[in-house]
Amino acid sequence: MDYNIVNGTIVTATDKYRADVGIANGKIVKIARKIKEPAMEVLDAKGLYIIPGGIDIHTHLDMPFGGTVSADDFETGTIAAAFGGTTTIVDFAIQGKGMTLKRTLNTWMKKAKGKAVIDYGFHIAICHLTDKVMAEMPEMVASGVPSFKCFLAYKGALMIDDGALYRVLLESKKAGALVMIHAENGDILDVLINDFLAQGKTEPKYHALSRPPEAEGEATGRGIAIAQMAGAPIYIVHLSCKEALDKVQEARDQGYPVFAETCPQYLLRSYQNYLEPGFNGAKYVMSPPLRDKSNWKVLWKGIASGDLQVISTDHCPFNFKGQKDMGKKNFAAIPNGAPGIEHRLMLFFHEAVNKRRLNLNRFVDLVSTAPAKLFGLFPQKGTVAVGSDADLVLFDPKAPYKISARTQHQNVDYTPYEGFKGRGVPRVVISQGKVIIKEKKFLGRPGQGKFIKRKPIKIK
Ligand code: URP
Ligand code: ZN
Ligand code: ZN
Repeated sequence: MDYNIVNGTIVTATDKYRADVGIANGKIVKIARKIKEPAMEVLDAKGLYIIPGGIDIHTHLDMPFGGTVSADDFETGTIAAAFGGTTTIVDFAIQGKGMTLKRTLNTWMKKAKGKAVIDYGFHIAICHLTDKVMAEMPEMVASGVPSFKCFLAYKGALMIDDGALYRVLLESKKAGALVMIHAENGDILDVLINDFLAQGKTEPKYHALSRPPEAEGEATGRGIAIAQMAGAPIYIVHLSCKEALDKVQEARDQGYPVFAETCPQYLLRSYQNYLEPGFNGAKYVMSPPLRDKSNWKVLWKGIASGDLQVISTDHCPFNFKGQKDMGKKNFAAIPNGAPGIEHRLMLFFHEAVNKRRLNLNRFVDLVSTAPAKLFGLFPQKGTVAVGSDADLVLFDPKAPYKISARTQHQNVDYTPYEGFKGRGVPRVVISQGKVIIKEKKFLGRPGQGKFIKRKPIKIK
């Protein structure tokens, strides 16, 4: 064996027990109360949880957006992810105008190859639907990309209309793919944005005021209704508010296959952040925007009830100096997005487990197992089991942390969580059977992350 992890406590989405874990050739080869076979290295996990590596299915690395490019590429972004205990990401390949899906996928493959330090997959965002593009969808699924995203916002750029969403849903159902939607009513937002700007209201807070929660609720309900007409499942990305959660809950209560994620920023940050002095509010310009604090409790309830199944980051970092300031005189020119890939497990563990909102199993489920199951990665990833990839985190539930832009590995000059303190830190991170993080040191190599061909997704 390459490694024997001893003295630890395995935690999966369903179990918690003391056992050793043997690793060879990138896989978990043995789990037993005591493993006696020799190993090249013994890792002592006393006092640590052995959990499956985190899976972040919503990231935007090296993404051209809003007249600039997100500040983390596949090297810096995946190193930051690894420091935070994430061992797989699924990033978005965005279809440009006139681009085939094949070319879109190849473009993003090239961005990741030779750079990623952890495993990765892609969703394809279909932004320009034609018959030719539709015809390519089964081929994308066969290439290991069984999920497509549709934007109902960003009018004039990424947004598609309801007819196109309906066609994507129909074709995805046939091909074995899951459709994800960014649910905000882009037509209404466009009017509100232009009205505010015409009135000279240009500060960051108008980003939030031009994207009301009702517009998210409406688009969520519409997306779900269109999925029902197509007889297809649907997944709502970055759900931020009660108005949207109500629509998800209503559909799920009726037995429809509707799934949704939220992100740490919607549980921990709020509209108040847009009112920070100077231009600081720009740090929080993301879509959907941060909401009134009353939504925090609602979202936690949605997580506890299972109506929200996944915690992802929507990591889309832009520097405060040099990128966010493109919108100093016009909130609509502030590139949308914020960093978070590094801090998801730490923040969520502290808020969920230490504050006794959820148990340990549910924590693992939300950050790893459920995303693996929904997006065609399970059981290769998302659990601790013989035969699964040896993507593991030795997690110290007691270790304290304090988040700061000065110490983070994300390639960006701020964090929305500056000064946040808590307990729960990844001590050792193993990706495909190799230790890549140990005691705050990166031991991996750019390019060692592999493209993971995901399985077709069939949800009834
Ligand atoms: O503001 C955000 N969320 N930026 C990334 C693109 C998206 O909408 O997911
Ligand atoms: Zn989005
Ligand atoms: Zn996103």
